[in-house]
Amino acid sequence: MKLIIHGGFFSESSTNSTTKLAKQESLKNILTQCYAYLQNHTALETVVLAVEMLENDPLFNAGIGSQIQNDGKIRMSASIMDGETKKFSGVINIEDVENPIRIAEKLLEFDDRVLGAEGALNFAREHHFPKFNPEIPQRREEYEAKVAALGLGTVGCVALDQNGKIAAATSTGGKGFEIPGRISDSATIAGNFANEFCGVSCTGVGEDIVSGAVAAKIAIRVSDGFEIDKAFAKTFEELKPFDGFAGAIAIDKQGNIFHQDSHPSMFYGSFDGKEFDVFD
Ligand code: GLY
Repeated sequence: MKLIIHGGFFSESSTNSTTKLAKQESLKNILTQCYAYLQNHTALETVVLAVEMLENDPLFNAGIGSQIQNDGKIRMSASIMDGETKKFSGVINIEDVENPIRIAEKLLEFDDRVLGAEGALNFAREHHFPKFNPEIPQRREEYEAKVAALGLGTVGCVALDQNGKIAAATSTGGKGFEIPGRISDSATIAGNFANEFCGVSCTGVGEDIVSGAVAAKIAIRVSDGFEIDKAFAKTFEELKPFDGFAGAIAIDKQGNIFHQDSHPSMFYGSFDGKEFDVFD
């Protein structure tokens, strides 16, 4: 059993050392609780729990604490992919809910599995997800000061369970100050992908991640026989011509855990039941 999570990028200009330490502690705490949960739950159930816990921590840019868009509203995106069934589900630009990842999880049961904006919100209400305002005062102050303090943060998790199944989940509050209607990578297969060979979750600039088809490319390369590190190396090499800003975490079916970023400042943490490897 293996687990890796990420919490977006570290920005020197906006994240002081106290916040950095708090994020590291949070990653460790979530890894510990979710690894225990993975003992008797599936990879799919575990990635949802991990992302829900990350969404509930205002230190990260997903769920509560999400960035505010340029019209003053928060819109969030989240997705899940089950590596066994290949089902992908997601919500794009959803407002006024606490945990977008739980709505993505609910959508896995339906034929129509990716919903946007109003449709996603209507679905959430029909399925009894209550109204929730994810705005925190710090984000409002940043918005008013027009400072995109945590603009590259997103959260994600990849898990490999005891039956060898893989799942990936990703959730974001977006870039901050974006044009309403802008689509994040986080609820696309560029930002979140899993199959029976590999699961990948990304963070960074959504437009670059989509241009680089990052998560899907890494997973497909691993499926086609690349070693996981080589799949990352080739995919990140392909981001260079357009200076793509991205980070990704992954686990393959042999339990190899890997992460890479184009700018070495991604918050990540992994746990194999013995040792933590947490961004420092
Ligand atoms: N990766 C998050 C976003 O660009 O929306």
